[in-house]
Amino acid sequence: MTALDPRLAAIARMVRPGARTADIGTDHGYLIAYLAKENIIPGGFACDIRPQPLEKARGLLRGQGLLSRVKVLLTDGLSGLPRDGVDDVVIAGMGGDTMIHILSQAGWKDPEKRFLLQPMTRASQLRQYLCREGYEILEEQAAEAGGFVYAILRAAFTGNRWEPDELFCAFGLMPDCPGRESLQYLIRQREALSARLDGLCRAAGPDAGRIREARELLARMDAVISKKEGSAS
Ligand SMILES: C[S@@+](CC[C@H](N)C(=O)[O-])C[C@H]1O[C@@H](n2cnc3c(N)ncnc32)[C@H](O)[C@@H]1O
Repeated sequence: MTALDPRLAAIARMVRPGARTADIGTDHGYLIAYLAKENIIPGGFACDIRPQPLEKARGLLRGQGLLSRVKVLLTDGLSGLPRDGVDDVVIAGMGGDTMIHILSQAGWKDPEKRFLLQPMTRASQLRQYLCREGYEILEEQAAEAGGFVYAILRAAFTGNRWEPDELFCAFGLMPDCPGRESLQYLIRQREALSARLDGLCRAAGPDAGRIREARELLARMDAVISKKEGSAS
């Protein structure tokens, strides 16, 4: 079985051993096939909204002799999945807004379930949504693959709703996460905000309030990054 890239490998490490796992947006099926083949999980569901990727996953699972343990489902998000038959839900490699849509539609607010989320975009909005909706972010990991640094969030529903500030939305738990990749993640988030600030400053009729807020956030980010760099050296 082909080795997973660092991003998928990091997600695989965050799945609970023994958890019946649903891989939403499975595409090629590498992750769920690896988890089942390595007997990390007893089985689960490979799901995708599009038939073509799902056929790739089905082919891989068939080739590995895993079709009896991993069911292949053409579905949007979590719809049609047996809620009682899933412990861990992986949603990886899609936009944070799509993840918010999937979680909202499903309403699977069961404290014992774990949601492993790896957004390609809008990670800040996803963190904000999770906090506001009563999901606790239990853990974050950063993984580097193909020149990008990705955040992977592990969340559970607790019912405790709160309003995170912009710094938490941007960085999440990454400041406390060990490893070079988590520092890289913070630096990339800072670069993204810095680019937005440049855009705000260049805009016709610049918005002084938003510029001030962005500068304040940048200063707070710098303080966190300096502290993390200091503790790493
Ligand atoms: C870029 S691939 C990511 C594949 C894999 N999860 C990974 O991280 O490498 C995104 C996949 O999500 C699927 N997808 C997008 N929206 C979806 C939804 N609402 N429900 C299920 N699958 C979806 C797409 O069809 C596509 O196959």
